[in-house]
Amino acid sequence: MDVRPLGQALGAEILGVDLHAGIDGETAAQIRRAWLDYQVIVFRGQELSGEEQVRATRVFGELQLAYSTIRNGTEVNYIGNFLAPDGKPGARGDGIFPFHQDGVYRERPTRATFLHALAIPSKGGNTAFASTYRAYEGLSAEMKERCEGLSVVHCYYKSGHNGVGEKQMIERYTHPLVVAHSETGRPLLMCDREMSESVVGLSEAESATLLDELCSAMERPENVYEHVWQLYDLVVWDNLATAHARTDFDPAEKRMMQRTTVLGDKPVAYRSPMSAAR
Ligand code: OGA
Ligand code: MN
Repeated sequence: MDVRPLGQALGAEILGVDLHAGIDGETAAQIRRAWLDYQVIVFRGQELSGEEQVRATRVFGELQLAYSTIRNGTEVNYIGNFLAPDGKPGARGDGIFPFHQDGVYRERPTRATFLHALAIPSKGGNTAFASTYRAYEGLSAEMKERCEGLSVVHCYYKSGHNGVGEKQMIERYTHPLVVAHSETGRPLLMCDREMSESVVGLSEAESATLLDELCSAMERPENVYEHVWQLYDLVVWDNLATAHARTDFDPAEKRMMQRTTVLGDKPVAYRSPMSAAR
């Protein structure tokens, strides 16, 4: 197995692995290591069935079931703008998504998301990944200190995500703003323009200003890798260490992603050595 970095900030391509064949324990450990080191890993040309993708997903942990999951007895869901392989229309198929982390409006946000490209438009519909580690690291010392100890209310969905309106606002959860990564322990920012409703204890205006500043820091080009899809790519992202966004594309063109997710833990607040010593 070879690992080839894709961007300055994050992302790597994994070469020499055939996920159809199933993977042994040592390969699985190497893949997991690369995923933790690069936050986003890309396998080319896999063409996996739903069942094969579920098997690969289990290497990373317990499956998390999305609202639209468990269709026709599989644990797969489909993000797309036409009929999915299970015979039902894909969900949330068109338009942009602003940067977000999956499932942050739940007690246990998604740990890993797998997207497998079954149909891609001729241009656009890229998925951009921002490092939430680098977003935090780039803050001033004063800003880091200010953020530590704050919490954010996340909801599903604040802004009518991709045409889904107010009545879909069915879950909310409060998490620390600066989270210690569950495996690496590294501090990361958990906030976005999509699901972050407010910072607890701040006025509406203060909260909006702080969130805007932090999201802008996260979205800076030096913190981002934008994935241009090839057919049958499988991309696996660390949903704590990254936030992701989708760029626009022509809705007349077909796009279909086969999606599976791994359940995460309840996020734990990061405490810097300085604050821990106080
Ligand atoms: C998702 C998601 C982005 C895309 O599946 O969680 O945000 O590029 N998808 O379709
Ligand atoms: Mn998402």
